[in-house]
Amino acid sequence: MSHSPFGMRTLLILTLTASLSGCSAVQSNPAQADAKTMKNPVAATAQSIANGKRLFDRFCANCHGAAGNGVSEMASTLAKIGKIKPSDLTDDKWDHGSTDGEIFVDIRDGVGPNAAMRGLNGKPGISDEEMWHIVNYVRSIGPKAR
Ligand code: HEC
Repeated sequence: MSHSPFGMRTLLILTLTASLSGCSAVQSNPAQADAKTMKNPVAATAQSIANGKRLFDRFCANCHGAAGNGVSEMASTLAKIGKIKPSDLTDDKWDHGSTDGEIFVDIRDGVGPNAAMRGLNGKPGISDEEMWHIVNYVRSIGPKAR
């Protein structure tokens, strides 16, 4: 494609976000809340963490590594071509926020310029609840919430 594939998408997301935030009818969508203070509605039970791991293996391990430590074939490729490397999710460094809500928004909306990491928002079969399971899993492999 000759035009930027991200321009339209970004615009669409911005438009969507704008229209959603004015609409309280969006049921059980905590998106309106500020990411930092957004409350995790899903208890981090063993079941939830297991669900999260399954989803992580499917959607995240490719980049962040099976162990979530940022070591993967994709990560070395990205580093080689000078792109942003997928973060180590097991360290205590959070460049994009360390609360459950902030991690949720990372997962939902993606991270980084030019969609270095794409969000899961809109993926078929992925609801908010699935994304919270992933948050719980990421928490379980990383430093605890402070
Ligand atoms: C295409 C590769 C790719 C995939 C797939 C991917 N990520 Fe990322 N992720 C990145 C990159 C690159 C960054 C770092 C962006 C930056 O440093 O600005 C990142 C950053 C993050 C961060 C922020 C870390 C911090 O330090 O604040 C979290 C959390 C995260 N990813 C979780 C996930 C989860 C969970 C999934 C699966 C649902 C996922 N990522 C899928 C590439 C990816």
